[in-house]
Amino acid sequence: MPLFDVYPLYNVTPVSGKGIHVYDDTGVEYLDLYGGHAVISIGHAHSNYVKAVTQQVSQLGFYSNAVQNPLQSQLADKLETLSGCKGYELFLINSGAEANENALKLASFKTGKKRVVAFSNGFHGRTSAAVVATDNKNIIAPINAQQEVTILPLNDVEGVRVELEKGDVCAVIVEFIQGVGGLDQGATEFFEAVDKLCKANNTMFIADEVQSGYGRSGQFFAFQHYDVTPDIISIAKGMGNGFPIGGILIHPDIQSKYGMLGTTFGGNHLACAAGLAVLNTIEEEDLIANVNAMGAYFIEKAKAIPEVKAIKGRGLMIGLEFDFEVGDLRKDLIYNYKVFTGGAANKKLLRILPPLNIEKQHIDQFFEALEKALTYALVEK
Ligand SMILES: Cc1ncc(COP(=O)(O)O)c(C=O)c1O
Repeated sequence: MPLFDVYPLYNVTPVSGKGIHVYDDTGVEYLDLYGGHAVISIGHAHSNYVKAVTQQVSQLGFYSNAVQNPLQSQLADKLETLSGCKGYELFLINSGAEANENALKLASFKTGKKRVVAFSNGFHGRTSAAVVATDNKNIIAPINAQQEVTILPLNDVEGVRVELEKGDVCAVIVEFIQGVGGLDQGATEFFEAVDKLCKANNTMFIADEVQSGYGRSGQFFAFQHYDVTPDIISIAKGMGNGFPIGGILIHPDIQSKYGMLGTTFGGNHLACAAGLAVLNTIEEEDLIANVNAMGAYFIEKAKAIPEVKAIKGRGLMIGLEFDFEVGDLRKDLIYNYKVFTGGAANKKLLRILPPLNIEKQHIDQFFEALEKALTYALVEK
């Protein structure tokens, strides 16, 4: 049976990984500055992770949410401590879209309203309501179009005020650093004004931290660079270092009720073991300090490359913008220099999302490759 052909694929077949590297089926080593869409947080095959997941799967991989599962509470407690989100409650699911879908649903339950405000160039996933909040008409099917979402430009405080004062908006959803869109960020005044407008208008403020969370921005959550208090925080990618797990952190003002949300696989034993290994490693290895140090080092090196026209993002969620489309450069980096990087909706931007335990030597290796690739590309032009 052929696979449904929806992904344009690079001709590389990774079969193993260790730390910042992956190895293909012929043994060639690649430097992974993309982490499979920002998923690899503590590095490939981290010993803590391998041990925790192996031990758990040999003991009990899964049971449903009909019985006690102390691993869920351990995960929630550790997440509360490391994130500093005191008093929030945790609901576990399996992916980023599912996190946002549940966040939007909960906002609608809480407020009794149904319109959503989202922002240009945002990405929130491919499911029912999340996909309509995503600013890409090509991925919205007719069945999704019934969702009521108003998309405003980032930084349009007046637009948000006008929409929220109409009284029918259940949620404002925002990425504090845009991922898929291309690493753009709203202004501090914008985020803080939106937070206040939400509180004044009985609208839930949803921080989509699916990509920017778990330390990647240099704070546990990217919203923590600002003076805001989201009602719901959605998480996924880095949470399981590759094991599918997502969640929403829910402000204590939102009351739970039996049956309100639910899932078969969400919060299963194996997912929790993976999630706990990630949090323990972030703590033990002080990875958020490393994000700040390595992010600063990366940006210093990027500033010395004349072809880099703008540097976007924070921490280890970095975009390098050029004055040409980077598709060929990415291919060159993979095939000739053995380096994985990411692209974005902004075709002129290289997206850099390495594991959080990257070291200076890996960054040096990337810049050596980039300089050579750029020289070659410029000669080719
Ligand atoms: C900010 C953000 N939200 C949501 C999603 C959707 O996550 P998933 O692909 O796990 O459904 C993504 C995926 O790239 C994302 O970057």
